[in-house]
Amino acid sequence: MLTTLIYRSQLNSSCKSEQLDALIKHARQRNALMNITGIMLFNGLEILQVLEGAEESIVKLFHRIRDDRRHTDVVELMRDYGPRRRFENVGMFLFDLRIESPKAVLESVLRYSKLESYLASEDRVFKFIQSFITQKKTARAASALTADKWTLSKENAPFGERIEGLIANQSCQFALQPIVEPTQGKITSLEALIRGNDGGSPERFFQSIDQNKIYEIDLQTKAYAFALAEKLGIGGHKIAVNLLPMSLVNVPGAVEFLVDQIKRHGLQPEQVVIEVTENEMISGFNQFNSAIKQLRAEGIGLAIDDFGSGYAGLSLLTRFQPDKIKIDREIVSDIHLSGPKQAIVKSIVSCCTDMEISLVAEGIEKLEEWCWLESAGIRRFQGFLFARPQLNGVGDIHWPHII
Ligand SMILES: Cc1cc2nc3c(=O)[nH]c(=O)nc-3n(C[C@H](O)[C@H](O)[C@H](O)COP(=O)(O)O)c2cc1C
Repeated sequence: MLTTLIYRSQLNSSCKSEQLDALIKHARQRNALMNITGIMLFNGLEILQVLEGAEESIVKLFHRIRDDRRHTDVVELMRDYGPRRRFENVGMFLFDLRIESPKAVLESVLRYSKLESYLASEDRVFKFIQSFITQKKTARAASALTADKWTLSKENAPFGERIEGLIANQSCQFALQPIVEPTQGKITSLEALIRGNDGGSPERFFQSIDQNKIYEIDLQTKAYAFALAEKLGIGGHKIAVNLLPMSLVNVPGAVEFLVDQIKRHGLQPEQVVIEVTENEMISGFNQFNSAIKQLRAEGIGLAIDDFGSGYAGLSLLTRFQPDKIKIDREIVSDIHLSGPKQAIVKSIVSCCTDMEISLVAEGIEKLEEWCWLESAGIRRFQGFLFARPQLNGVGDIHWPHII
């Protein structure tokens, strides 16, 4: 299928103009063999390249280009399918904005293309080209932090002794995972993740219990999480627990039970955050609304978990603003390589800043992801890169340091 891929990158300063000319000449020959067409724009620092061809050939070539050390910060901006090429018969052509004016470049791009100019003005590919030429901001790499300047060093978590093995007389166990603010070297909270008594996942645990009692059990298990926090001595740290919103609606006296268990284990309601997923939140919103008010009145915090994974999205925030939003791991994964993901996270950061909602990025596994997100204004992170969940305890934390 005819595929068009656009990416943006930064040419290494060691790659001189003559080398770029040679690269284009070589690329043109190779592209002809692969039936790939396209153009490249260069402004003295950044590159925008448009590649068109059969999907398989484009993907193969893009992987090679991405690994090419002559440029860095390669961010894919668009991958789309269409009926015809824009740059038919152009194996690869360089438009150099250092030599020609933006207006002249724009005109010659249009001349090279097979699209009528009235069609081009509505075409996404041309919009990317035009934005690059006129230097209107596209989803630009947030480059204040670069991963190769950072390393991680291990530190023990500042909590009491780890409890060995399983805790007896409980229907389930909990694993704790810290949420950290790396630039401050600070743990902001601990998420208590439910595990079966065999150490199995939350899904397995919920499948294994009596389905008629799912909400009662969901609620009751939170008491074990608070007890664990007490045993470990979490001090003034916050503890976050996941809860099915319908547990608050269907179990009579649910909020009172939570508050009682929180206090019984020496915690303050303000230390506790209830995490509810975006999808659960929207499907039961009207019923859940009064329970939210009750939780708020007690001082318990609320977070939307897996934000961006469901079907509510930003519209949910018109009806309800939580204290905290946790951006879904799917959006965060490889964000340093994806223009659309970067644009989405920038808009989440901007609207949450305006609404004073704190943000956590979940599922961080790579330094590159953290660097991009930190540069985009996110301060709190959860993920294997910094700390793994640990059964009945808090594991080592890996703090980033400049090399
Ligand atoms: C900015 C940039 C754009 C490139 N564009 C192309 C291209 O359009 N076609 C191509 O064959 N190689 C292109 N290359 C070169 C490839 O990265 C790679 O060096 C080339 O395909 C040869 O790969 P190989 O030595 O693994 O066979 C480009 C490299 C850079 C840095």
